[in-house]
Amino acid sequence: MINILISGIFGHMGRNVAELVDADKDTKLLCGVDLKAGESYGAPVYASFKDVTEKADAVIDFSSAANLKNVLGYAKRTGCSVVLAATDYTDDDLKAIEQASQEIAVFKTANLSVGVNLLQKLVKEAAAFLGDAFDVEIVERHHNLKKDAPSGTAYMLAESVNEAFGQQKHYVYGRSGMVGARDKKEIGIHAVRGGTIVGEHEVMFAGEDEIVTISHSARSKKVFAAGAVTAAKFVAGKPAGKYDMHDVIG
Ligand SMILES: NC(=O)c1ccc[n+]([C@@H]2O[C@H](COP(=O)([O-])OP(=O)(O)OC[C@H]3O[C@@H](n4cnc5c(N)ncnc54)[C@H](O)[C@@H]3O)[C@@H](O)[C@H]2O)c1
Repeated sequence: MINILISGIFGHMGRNVAELVDADKDTKLLCGVDLKAGESYGAPVYASFKDVTEKADAVIDFSSAANLKNVLGYAKRTGCSVVLAATDYTDDDLKAIEQASQEIAVFKTANLSVGVNLLQKLVKEAAAFLGDAFDVEIVERHHNLKKDAPSGTAYMLAESVNEAFGQQKHYVYGRSGMVGARDKKEIGIHAVRGGTIVGEHEVMFAGEDEIVTISHSARSKKVFAAGAVTAAKFVAGKPAGKYDMHDVIG
């Protein structure tokens, strides 16, 4: 049985993950951490990692990048594995994640859906195949409550495209005013916000007289929650290092 601590358990994602952890015969909800602690959840929920006395096999963090130090501090103190699912990490955060991965197993991905991880592979392949003759533009769409923009997944896709171009491209966010003709070295990234859209990502390769579009649409937050539980089962007990969805999919 894999004992799971859910960080951000009272959030939209945290609640979905808790349901799946309960339903999975291999996992057990050990406890939760959330600023909104107080509500009961069939397991203790603490306001801070400082108050946690239980030792988990894996932490699933769906709280916020601002909570990263506390998540990593707990994991390093207890030697458990972590699934970092929050987005919007700063460069300093990424360094802290890199350092932590020398001591503990860290699973990090901007997107836990299997489909998006396939999309990532496909866009890299398409960029290498189509080359500079095609302009690359990424459009992401999310619900009106999303705080960060563009999405971590849009960056993840842009990085995969840029890898195929030997890091020769730079990112341009939205366009407005007299921006002039498009520079071949641009990857355009555009964030649309509205209603209850769960998460849509579209990568367009626009060439002369033809367009290739590769896209993914998440229809429910459950795909991310299911990915988080799969990731936690995968990373629990693994040696120190960095892991992502591609390690799981193989
Ligand atoms: N990687 C993925 O596949 C994926 C998918 C969906 C969402 N996300 C990311 O997950 C995060 C959470 O999304 P959500 O929609 O559930 O948000 P949410 O605002 O509904 O939930 C966040 C929860 O975390 C708690 N929280 C925030 N800061 C905290 C802290 N410092 N300590 C303890 N608890 C804290 C809040 O009280 C809240 O209950 C966001 O960063 C989002 O972008 C990632």
